[in-house]
Amino acid sequence: MKGTALVTGGAVRLGRAFALNLAELGYDIALHFHRSHRAAQDTLTELRALGVQAEAFQADFSQETNFEPLLAAIGDRLPTLRVLVNSASVYEAAPLCKTTPALFEEQFAVNLRSPYFLMQAFARVCQSGNIINIIDNKIAFNQYHYSAYLLSKKALAELTKLAALELAPHIRVNGIAPGVTLPANERTPDYIQWRIQGIPLKRQGKINYLFQAMKYILDNDFVTGQILMVDGGESLTNVGKNAENYGLGGG
Ligand SMILES: NC(=O)c1ccc[n+]([C@@H]2O[C@H](COP(=O)([O-])OP(=O)(O)OC[C@H]3O[C@@H](n4cnc5c(N)ncnc54)[C@H](OP(=O)(O)O)[C@@H]3O)[C@@H](O)[C@H]2O)c1
Repeated sequence: MKGTALVTGGAVRLGRAFALNLAELGYDIALHFHRSHRAAQDTLTELRALGVQAEAFQADFSQETNFEPLLAAIGDRLPTLRVLVNSASVYEAAPLCKTTPALFEEQFAVNLRSPYFLMQAFARVCQSGNIINIIDNKIAFNQYHYSAYLLSKKALAELTKLAALELAPHIRVNGIAPGVTLPANERTPDYIQWRIQGIPLKRQGKINYLFQAMKYILDNDFVTGQILMVDGGESLTNVGKNAENYGLGGG
């Protein structure tokens, strides 16, 4: 028996895919969601069809600071918690000069403060296990158009290393930094083609590449504190050619 994996933002998009992939490996799933009630129920149905236990847990990470009740609720309903995947995130464009305090606070509350205190709660509750923070390959660049978002993700990468040291030897902490994989719904095919031109391997990421990284981290018991870039080499360019603003929207 593998135990339970908590996937934040697990009802939709990449978080949903991580939850389904972990269920295929035999983990029971604690599925966190915020607004996507209906999608969470649909995902639960898909997870249970894979033969694992799955329960949904609602929380607004822009407000929540105490995660021990959430972990206690998970402990009451599912087998031992072994894995935490911090995937929930908000992604709002604004350079420094246009960032409001509210925008800044939301980016940092969801993208950094919540993983921080979830990791703390996980460490208190779990004697051993794995934490995987979903970051972004844009931490390799200085994409100032997403000032608060990018800072929150850069900080999450640093937190991954700090926590790996503090929580060793029983808990491993790693990060996965996806490149362009599942663009926001408003992105046009033009945008995807433009991004691909700046990617050394000249193609878009697939969800399966991210899951291969996750499986590697879970399987390899000698890896901690690492940020795995899964981005076709885009981060190697350091400048993120074509990871900057696209049209008026931002990248
Ligand atoms: N998609 C990509 O190609 C890509 C590229 C680089 C990095 N990433 C990273 O990969 C992760 C998943 O990406 P994605 O594109 O699937 O994300 P997404 O579509 O933006 O989904 C965001 C998730 O975060 C949750 N969320 C948003 N606000 C929240 C709040 N206030 N409290 C709690 N949860 C909240 C949402 O939950 P509800 O829907 O339930 O409200 C949703 O599940 C993110 O960390 C992202 O930064 C993705």
